[in-house]
Amino acid sequence: MNAPTDKEIVFASRMAQLRPSAIREILKTTEAPDVISFAGGLPAPELFPTETFQVAARTILSGDSTGALQYGVTEGYTPLREWLSGYLNETVGLRVKAGSVLITQGSQQGLDLLAKVLLDPGDVVLVETPAYLGALQAFQSYQAKVVGLASDEEGLRADLLEQALSALSAPPKFLYLICNYQNPTGTSMSAARRQDIAEIAARHNLLVVEDDPYGRLRFEGGPERALGAQSKSGPWAYLGSTSKILAPGLRVGWVATSHAGLFERLVTAKQATDLQTGSFTQRLVFALLNRGEWLDQHIANLCEVYRKRRDVMLQSLESQMPEGTHWTRPSGGLFLWVTLPRETTDTLSLLRRAASHQVAFVPGAPFCVGQILSNALRLNFSNASEENIRKGIRRLGGLVRSES
Ligand SMILES: Cc1ncc(COP(=O)(O)O)c(C=O)c1O
Repeated sequence: MNAPTDKEIVFASRMAQLRPSAIREILKTTEAPDVISFAGGLPAPELFPTETFQVAARTILSGDSTGALQYGVTEGYTPLREWLSGYLNETVGLRVKAGSVLITQGSQQGLDLLAKVLLDPGDVVLVETPAYLGALQAFQSYQAKVVGLASDEEGLRADLLEQALSALSAPPKFLYLICNYQNPTGTSMSAARRQDIAEIAARHNLLVVEDDPYGRLRFEGGPERALGAQSKSGPWAYLGSTSKILAPGLRVGWVATSHAGLFERLVTAKQATDLQTGSFTQRLVFALLNRGEWLDQHIANLCEVYRKRRDVMLQSLESQMPEGTHWTRPSGGLFLWVTLPRETTDTLSLLRRAASHQVAFVPGAPFCVGQILSNALRLNFSNASEENIRKGIRRLGGLVRSES
């Protein structure tokens, strides 16, 4: 029997907004082993704590194996939720009880659930542009109207937020932000700007969704408080993840929120989606997070390696890129953002040529909402070795110089 064609199946209208991306097709060609890829947001696999996982897995299965293998409640494994409420208080200043923490299948599921419970077609979501692609995809799949606001060196511009809030005919459903080592730019919001944004949002009763998968990957400077932990703040939801500090394959993240009604609806929505996050993986994650000294050491080690890789990438850009090229200097996270000298350069075409020269990145345009920065690109510095970073940036620099 032939596979059904699109003529025989009528898809939901919301799928019209989700198109296969040209970039993904090109990036598939860069998966060969001789390609140096700065494209994915992948942690360094050699730093996965495999042995610690092995020991923890054995301990779990020889002790509480029924709990680990049985269905569990949708909200998540209680000791993990309790641990997270203490952790959020300590690390980002969020006063949140375990009862307001929902364990999710990665923070990506948190984004999808928030969109599912909050967005009707045409609802407005405010984001900082450029923005995380996975969030844009989640919001667009519920047919939201996503409005991009620009940033300056301190983060999202408070004046533009004020302007948007008074200009829009219907209030936006929420504001989505990554304050620490943003994806894709690597930049962070200053302490003063966090206060301003939280205060404006509180005044307008605007829900703030803060996504913070990178906050612990800090190479310099002190930790900053979450938007929901500022002296004046309105309703908030905060997403976190173990993907970048333990391993993304586990798919464990969380959403915490100040709003009881929102929490209830997120739980109901998750029930319909997947009943619960895996009982075994939640226990595995808890076992590692709960080893305080080990965890601090492990994260310090990740930061040390990534900081060096960032430095090598910055030095390589300095020596290889033509004059007039600009890039961000992130003090943590996994990415930096490069703007090429000529505004007419199209980094999607550049990616096609780069792929045939065995180097890959993600072009800037798909991250943009509103003004398209087609001469920008995102580079990941966590996944390649220092030697490959030097080699890869040499290849990329050669290509860019040949075109400028
Ligand atoms: C800003 C941001 N949010 C959420 C995610 C999703 O992460 P996960 O679902 O693995 O927790 C990512 C992944 O790269 C990200 O960069």
